[in-house]
Amino acid sequence: MKSWAAWGRILFVLLAWAGVGWSQTAAKSAEAVALFSRHCAVCHGEAGQGESAVIRMAGPSLQAVHNPGLVMLAMETGPSHMPRFETILTVPQMRMIARFVTRRLAVIPLTGESLGRGGNLYRVNCASCHGAVTQGGTLGFAGLNAPALRRKPMALVAGAIRWGPGPMPRFSAAELPARDVASIAEYVRYLRRPSHPGGAALHWNGPVPEGAVAWAMALSLMVFAIWLEKGGRG
Ligand code: HEC
Ligand code: HEC
Repeated sequence: MKSWAAWGRILFVLLAWAGVGWSQTAAKSAEAVALFSRHCAVCHGEAGQGESAVIRMAGPSLQAVHNPGLVMLAMETGPSHMPRFETILTVPQMRMIARFVTRRLAVIPLTGESLGRGGNLYRVNCASCHGAVTQGGTLGFAGLNAPALRRKPMALVAGAIRWGPGPMPRFSAAELPARDVASIAEYVRYLRRPSHPGGAALHWNGPVPEGAVAWAMALSLMVFAIWLEKGGRG
């Protein structure tokens, strides 16, 4: 039984990621709305606009989620405090929801991005709260810190820009047009894996921890050398 379940899950994830087999009929669309409203809206909002932790059960904006595989995976794995829906919904129901999210709720496009422009816009609009390298801030107001963005998928970053969860400002299309939103999301994604020639990246926490690690290494080398010398003499 166990191995059947395991195979089933592997197959399921593969199918989800390949994005194949979306069977579809118009009649199912009303059911999809109802399913989303019942199982997802409490945290993500009826229009997938997102709900802030300050207001109630928190879930990010889904309005830039264009990949049904991401929705399937989220329901399957339950990231953060999102529950897993594997045993609550059937696979066809989950597919229906994934289609509904990506076709009906995803109104923020993610195209036409430019990495260089994204970097500039990030520094001007986001770095003050989320840190220069998206490490998260130490912003004490409303008892909330701006979170680290490293693990946030591009879609959630783009969604948050338009939505403005809790104390975060929302950026309208007049302030940041669609291409700029895509550029910032691309830049946040890029920061996850910047090219760093030579040496360990130390999770990009900046020069202070890097210096501390250098000191710790130097110290342990010294201790090791002393130990070697004592040991060598017997
Ligand atoms: C109890 C609150 C809650 C409910 C209910 C909930 N979610 Fe979530 N969801 C979250 C949170 C919190 C995250 C953010 C995880 C993170 O920060 O990466 C999330 C993330 C996601 C993501 C982004 C995936 C990712 O990689 O982060 C998708 C897509 C998603 N949810 C879809 C759904 C759908 C579809 C439903 C309904 C079947 C649902 N969620 C129900 C809280 C919830
Ligand atoms: C004034 C400070 C401030 C600025 C400026 C700001 N943010 Fe935020 N951001 C926050 C805070 C605080 C939260 C947490 C809100 C919450 O949890 O309800 C947050 C949350 C987020 C999240 C997480 C949403 C989630 O639910 O997972 C993302 C992504 C994000 N911000 C991206 C950005 C980007 C991109 C910019 C620049 C365009 C930006 N922020 C500008 C303060 C800020």
